[in-house]
Parts: sequence; structure tokens; C-alpha cells
Amino acid sequence: MSADPYTPRPGRFITLEGGEGVGKTTNVGFVCEWLEARGIEVVRTREPGGTPGSEAIRELLLDPSRDEPWCDDAELLLVFAARAQHLAERIRPALARGAWVVCDRFTDATFAYQGGGRGMEPTRIETLERLVQQSLQPDLTLLLDLPVALAAERVAGRGAPLDRFERERGAFFESVRRTYLERAAQNERFAVIDARPDLETVQRAIAERLSERVAAWS
Ligand code: TMP
Repeated sequence: MSADPYTPRPGRFITLEGGEGVGKTTNVGFVCEWLEARGIEVVRTREPGGTPGSEAIRELLLDPSRDEPWCDDAELLLVFAARAQHLAERIRPALARGAWVVCDRFTDATFAYQGGGRGMEPTRIETLERLVQQSLQPDLTLLLDLPVALAAERVAGRGAPLDRFERERGAFFESVRRTYLERAAQNERFAVIDARPDLETVQRAIAERLSERVAAWS
């Protein structure tokens, strides 16, 4: 039976995750190009951010020069406020019309940074996840994994000013990495990519995982 032409096939939702300096942004571009080369309409976006309002919240979250630090609950609520707006204005409409969304970070980052890094209870995060996302989850999450010391070298090598999260200590990032890997071990939507080799090798691994998953969906 042929598909109903009036019911657009919902798009797929792919997220890229990992600590600072793992090469997410470069590889988000690679994933988008890989999909576009196969004729797929892609919406590239990021969190926190992705709409003007959510980008304004991103500024509040990342600005290192604030005199008043955010308390943990305020930080968590800002992250989810940005996400609610992003889902309503950008992600859900794109998926509904059949586009694929490729997002640089999503709620796994909240579990890793606010949960692992800041030590917030995962149940508090899960409550907001249900409120804001209902049942929506990524179809595939590519987790770029790199030892913390190596990642720190790469961040320092950029020579760019550090944002509020990049200024955290090594123990914070060890906890972020551990939380990501624990979540990946518990959930089949994850594909863990070793980010230590050169870019070409990393991208070959990403393309292999994408091919497997896309074939399984069609
Ligand atoms: P990035 O997009 O340059 O990686 O910066 C976003 C920063 O925001 C990064 O340090 C991780 C942090 N973040 C959180 O703490 N929680 C979240 O839910 C998200 C999406 C990002």
C-alpha cells in the first residue's frame, strides 16, 4: 500500500553530544552534509539556542562576566526554557513537515552538565524533560568521546575566550564524561564515537553509524 500523500512522514531527530573540545560543531556540519547528499531536507540547530529567544537565554547561561552566579535550579530552568521555545518554534515544526533535525546538544547535555557536573538529582531533570518534551526523544545520539585531559588541550589550543562552563574544573568534566558514557550504555539510541583519532577517521566512523541507522529506519 502506498503512503498517504497528505500525511508527511515525520522527520528524524539526530543529536550530537560530548564534552568541550570533542569536535561536535565540525561534525554536526559533516552529518548535515552527509544527509543532504542523500536528498534529505536538514535543519541544523543547537542548544542552548536555535531561535532568537533561546539564543538570548544562551547568552545569559554562557556569559562568564556575570557578578551574580546562577543557582543550580535557575540554570536548569533556563536550559529548559530555551529548550521549550526551541521545540515549539523550530524542532517540532521541522519534524512535522518531514525535515530531519540535526542538533548540537540536547537533553543528554542537561543530564551530563547539570546532573553529572553540578550534581543535581536526575529525577528533577526527568520531571522537566517530561514537561517540556512529552514523549519526544532523539532517534539517534552520536556521543563524541574524548579523555578530559586531551579535550582540555584542544580547547586551550583554540585560543578563544572561555565561556562560563569551559571555566569549570577537571573534576566537573570527568563527571560530565562519566554521565554521558553511563547514559550511552543504558540506551540504544546512542552511538559512541571515539574522538581521539584524526578528523577523517572520526568522520568515517560517524558515516558508518549513520548508514547503519538510516538503513534500519527505511
Ligand atoms: P557549546 O554549544 O559551545 O558546547 O556550549 C554550550 C554549553 O552549554 C556547554 O558548555 C554545555 C552547556 N549546556 C548545559 O550545561 N546544559 C544543557 O542542557 C546544554 C544543551 C548545554
